[in-house]
Amino acid sequence: MRNLLLQLDSSRHPSVFDQVVAYDGGADEIMSYGGVTPEDVRDLVHGCMFTRGAKDLKHTAIWIGGNNMSQGEQLLAMAVDAMFAPLTVSVMLDSNGSNTTAVAAVVKIEQAVGNVAGKKAVVLAGTGPVGQRAAGLLAMGGAKVTITSRKPEQGEKARQFINARFNAQVESTTLASPEHQAQVLDGAEILLNSGPAGVQMVSKAAWNAVKTLKVAVDLNAVPPLGLEGIEVDDAGVARDGVIAYGAFGVGNFKTKLHKRCIARLFERNDLVLDAESIADIAREMHKK
Ligand SMILES: NC(=O)c1ccc[n+]([C@@H]2O[C@H](COP(=O)([O-])OP(=O)(O)OC[C@H]3O[C@@H](n4cnc5c(N)ncnc54)[C@H](OP(=O)(O)O)[C@@H]3O)[C@@H](O)[C@H]2O)c1
Repeated sequence: MRNLLLQLDSSRHPSVFDQVVAYDGGADEIMSYGGVTPEDVRDLVHGCMFTRGAKDLKHTAIWIGGNNMSQGEQLLAMAVDAMFAPLTVSVMLDSNGSNTTAVAAVVKIEQAVGNVAGKKAVVLAGTGPVGQRAAGLLAMGGAKVTITSRKPEQGEKARQFINARFNAQVESTTLASPEHQAQVLDGAEILLNSGPAGVQMVSKAAWNAVKTLKVAVDLNAVPPLGLEGIEVDDAGVARDGVIAYGAFGVGNFKTKLHKRCIARLFERNDLVLDAESIADIAREMHKK
């Protein structure tokens, strides 16, 4: 039986990136919908549930993506709400690659420092989809997490959102100019840049000055890179005594993880893959 993936994307054009990876991950056919709103979800999901018998439902799955993380979360909630046992299909949320990217970064950090519990982690520009997910996962692991934002109100909003979503105690701080970097980074053992493409967030001198720093991860692949002195292909190399990962160093694992998650969706009909369950899959992959 063919593996069918229903792609529900909150953006006008369903993501081509997500489609390509889905084919590579094991989907035989993708039914793509763009501009999907929460009101649309129930009927689209029912189309998956009532068409194949319960024992064959593992060959149908739902993918939720799009640029907007909070819309993606609403679509996921509606999809889960529309289904009832035994007529369920597996579903995954990865708006803008946020879950798979954040999980890949966090798993690399865990590989570098072991247990993150009690360690100070700074997530630069942690108000975006990737940073929020990463901050939440690090906090779940017991790290003392601070996210930064250029704007106090934006940081506070993201802080509240992360803490509610992950039942965590993340802090936020304003980082609007380089002179505050030393204070924000003081005592950090983990540094993760989740700032936008093409923006240098911290100079080499600034992160070199943090003598407690053990691992630094930069998710920005577009020059200028986010953490000066960390190269895009760095994948666990030591740079001035700090274990460094660049965007491709993380991204290669992210792509493998993304494909593995797609394959998992077609193994059973009751999975709900969000940050935590995707992290479980990533940690399993790392053990092998
Ligand atoms: N390697 C991979 O596989 C992979 C996959 C997906 C994404 N990524 C990368 O991961 C990073 C995070 O993605 P995202 O979608 O979460 O990011 P995003 O939403 O584009 O940006 C994150 C935050 O950056 C801040 N920001 C925006 N413009 C800025 C500027 N000019 N200077 C300083 N801060 C600025 C904003 O926070 P405030 O307004 O609160 O300051 C924003 O919330 C990006 O670099 C993206 O390219 C990598």
